[in-house]
Amino acid sequence: MMLKGKLKFPGDKSISHRALILAALTNSNCQIENISTGADVESTRNCLTLCGINSKRTDKTVSITGGKLRNPKTNLDCGNSGTTARLLIGLLAGQKVSARFVGDESLSRRPMQRIIHPLEKMGAEIDNSNQHLPLTLRTTRLTGISYTPPIASAQVKSAILLSGLGAEGETTVTELRPTRNHTELMLNELGADIQTKDNSVTVLPLQKPLNSFKITIPGDPSTAAFFAAAAVLIPNSDLILENVSANPTRTGFYVVLEQMYGNIECLSRWENNGEHAGNLRIRGSQLQGISITKDDIPGMIDEIPILAVMATQAEGTTEIRGAAELRVKECDRINAICINLKRMGADITEFDDGFAITGPTTLKSAKIKTFGDHRIAMAFTIAGLAANVPVKLDDPDCVNISFPEFYSFLRKVS
Ligand code: S3P
Repeated sequence: MMLKGKLKFPGDKSISHRALILAALTNSNCQIENISTGADVESTRNCLTLCGINSKRTDKTVSITGGKLRNPKTNLDCGNSGTTARLLIGLLAGQKVSARFVGDESLSRRPMQRIIHPLEKMGAEIDNSNQHLPLTLRTTRLTGISYTPPIASAQVKSAILLSGLGAEGETTVTELRPTRNHTELMLNELGADIQTKDNSVTVLPLQKPLNSFKITIPGDPSTAAFFAAAAVLIPNSDLILENVSANPTRTGFYVVLEQMYGNIECLSRWENNGEHAGNLRIRGSQLQGISITKDDIPGMIDEIPILAVMATQAEGTTEIRGAAELRVKECDRINAICINLKRMGADITEFDDGFAITGPTTLKSAKIKTFGDHRIAMAFTIAGLAANVPVKLDDPDCVNISFPEFYSFLRKVS
């Protein structure tokens, strides 16, 4: 079996959330095309609807009209989506909206102190006893702050910037390590008063609604990464991945793929509204192990499960360190990677902040525990395919969180 053909991916999840959220701050109609098809982005859209922002979805197009955000009458259910919860808490704090946020079991375990702390410094009133969801936000006036998050997180950065749009005075976030910059790029495009200098970004309160917009979201590079890995791992494969986001804060996985001697070619590249995208060609290749350190992590944070699968087929040792954040994603991904790769017979050693894998190993058939995590499910489906052995996932449908078309896309090119 080999993979051949062309794939065009639904829109990037991070940009899709932001497009919906920033559309809410305009005062007229916005059109979002090629929006992410995952359940996470629908969680954001549903929460905005409960706050009085109407939208209509037809397939991959959303028509959404901005306006005044209102106190929702019911809980805002963020489902499985950390981006929905953290960005909306920031947005609504700034817009003086009171709301109660809830999430599914996984999201209710994820840390919220990282946004509660800076928002409280700005004056937000948040009722929360255990630093997790559920959490209630009460209407208060915010004042801008200058803040350096102790962890590299685009969700934290974005929550603070969004709250700053409704605060008094300047709000500055300084990052120790740069993270994805979609919020800043889009705010700049839509007429917000925003400045970026070195590792700092400053916003001023909005004096008028954001400009309404029409956007076509580039394909999700984190989703495309599963197919890039499959093409590299399965001999004689030749895949074209079209219209993949090439924002430099998101391309870490593709840079590493090339450094591991993966056969990757950029066929074309363009820019649209500050966001880059391109077409890639990926072919089967023999990989070499690589060492990945803390500075590399933010640019490939969501791609590490599939990178681990690639590492099992690379010559030598691949070491990933400085990735402790993986322990507080949709599941503890370091643990999930180690448990499942061991079941498949890989040579893997777990660290607090990562793991080391020595390859190449012939992976064997196994039962995979997904922990309900979409990226674990997709990574281990590709592991089975590459090893040409059956894998049995306990929850194959959890791919719906980011990419419901995952299995049909695989069938299309197999
Ligand atoms: C995201 C940021 C990352 C990433 C998540 C999406 C975003 O999380 O893992 O899937 O859209 O801002 P952190 O910012 O918490 O690292």
